[in-house]
Amino acid sequence: MGDIAWWQEGVIYQIYPLSFADSNGDGMGDLRGIISRLDYLNDGTPASLGVDAIWLSPVYPSPLRDCGYDVSDYTDIAPAMGTLADFDELVDRAHARGIRVILDLVLNHTSDQHPWFVASRSSRDNPRRDWYLWHDGGGPRRPPNNWRSRFGGRAWTWDAATRQWYMHGFLPEQPDVNWRNPQVKAAMWEVVRFWLDRGVDGFRLDVVNHYIKDDQWRDNPTRWWYRESPLRSLIAYDRQWHIYDRDRPALKDVLREFRQLLDAYPERMSVGEISSDDPLGVAAALCGPELLHLTFNFAFTHTPWRAAAFQEAIRRWEAALGPGSWPTYTLSNHDVPRHYSRYGRRAAARRARVAAAMLLTLRGTPFLYYGEEIGMRETAIPRRELVDPVGKRYWPFYRGRDGCRTPMQWDATAQAGFSTARPWLRVNEDYMRRNVAAQRDDPNSLLSFYRQLIWLRKATPALRRGRYEPFQEGARESLSFLRHTAEQTVLVVLNFADRPTRLVPDRPWPSRRWRVLLSTAGRNGEELPGLAPVFAPYEVCIMEAL
Ligand code: NOJ
Repeated sequence: MGDIAWWQEGVIYQIYPLSFADSNGDGMGDLRGIISRLDYLNDGTPASLGVDAIWLSPVYPSPLRDCGYDVSDYTDIAPAMGTLADFDELVDRAHARGIRVILDLVLNHTSDQHPWFVASRSSRDNPRRDWYLWHDGGGPRRPPNNWRSRFGGRAWTWDAATRQWYMHGFLPEQPDVNWRNPQVKAAMWEVVRFWLDRGVDGFRLDVVNHYIKDDQWRDNPTRWWYRESPLRSLIAYDRQWHIYDRDRPALKDVLREFRQLLDAYPERMSVGEISSDDPLGVAAALCGPELLHLTFNFAFTHTPWRAAAFQEAIRRWEAALGPGSWPTYTLSNHDVPRHYSRYGRRAAARRARVAAAMLLTLRGTPFLYYGEEIGMRETAIPRRELVDPVGKRYWPFYRGRDGCRTPMQWDATAQAGFSTARPWLRVNEDYMRRNVAAQRDDPNSLLSFYRQLIWLRKATPALRRGRYEPFQEGARESLSFLRHTAEQTVLVVLNFADRPTRLVPDRPWPSRRWRVLLSTAGRNGEELPGLAPVFAPYEVCIMEAL
């Protein structure tokens, strides 16, 4: 790989705008709230977190049936979040601090309130009719095929007025658009240009592998057994192989066009969200020099706490990616339980450090999720307060995604300093102890640890761009790997276990002398003792070859 781009070296921080900071006291986060917290994210000094980019989950006008992933206007800002002028100011101020801005593009579907769909459903001969996926099926009782919605029920809803079905991969209020219609594609590219011209640095593409569907509307084959998760074999959506409602070959042509559009602007990037029966294979197939810059790999969001399991996830991702592609890593996001809670009660505080060190030292772009740097946990939301449509539908078997979307915990004042009003989702009850203010000046806090890692990464070329080489494959307790550039070799040792572990590499040591750059066992600045060193329980140790 030749020159390295900012989106490869940089650390990207996901903000869920509804929950980050509320500037006007209506209980919902907004753009001016984000502006007021930019110094926290990066003020150019190690006193701040030091992230290089923020990705904003949707900020567009929306009826909020799916928390903003149902967009009713692609080229405006939701009134509750601010105005386009606020957005321009956010971009300017972020750029002034060296923070790039990435927007979430939800182009697989719109809201049913979007004027395009309102027109489309108004009559069969409306010029926008073919902008969505309409089909006769076998009349009101027989949908066109067996496709299911990811959020439950059929992927088809009957429209009694025009006597046809329309397709929706998610809620009925989120009709899928017809990407095979050139007018739709042109309209979407206009949206992309609108934001690029406003100075946006990149896009996260929501469920990008769903854009194109089978043009013959064939039934998905049945999938009897979900090997990875027998529980999922009970869910109708997962009892199908989704070969016709997503992952269609024609998608690549769309993505090539999109890439050309982006490449006409300097230094822009894209990252695709993939949800697939073959997430790694599809993610690898859709990124590269002519396609998306990056695709997400969500393996870490469900990898069990075992060094060997993480090592295998990394190995598979490195092996899947072509030479022109670049990995990404994510521990948490707005769709999965926060990792601090996934890592158990007793050990979570120490495991969260090991996980953070792994995320921020692997070869690839790390995506942080707001609040993980202070160890925010999943919040228990009572049923009557649920907002997420998926939680409402499946409660109590699945409680949905509200628990990972609660307000950012800034300080110990009421509502955690997020808002002066009662927030749209309750604040986690641990906010008095677990908040930014409490951790900011404590050198031993998780926040300080994230800051140290991020600033170390910035200062260490091998961590930003170096090759990845496992150092002790198949180790049960620890994950260790080298990162090399021509000038520098760094060794990362992560002890996943609650007991000491000895590092016994399965290849020669590339150097006899190592200086510790960062350690959770108080070894900073020391030289590593001997060549079969022992590491403390849950120790993180990052060393540079001398
Ligand atoms: C993926 C998003 O991450 C999720 O939050 C959303 O519900 C669906 N796509 C539908 O847009």
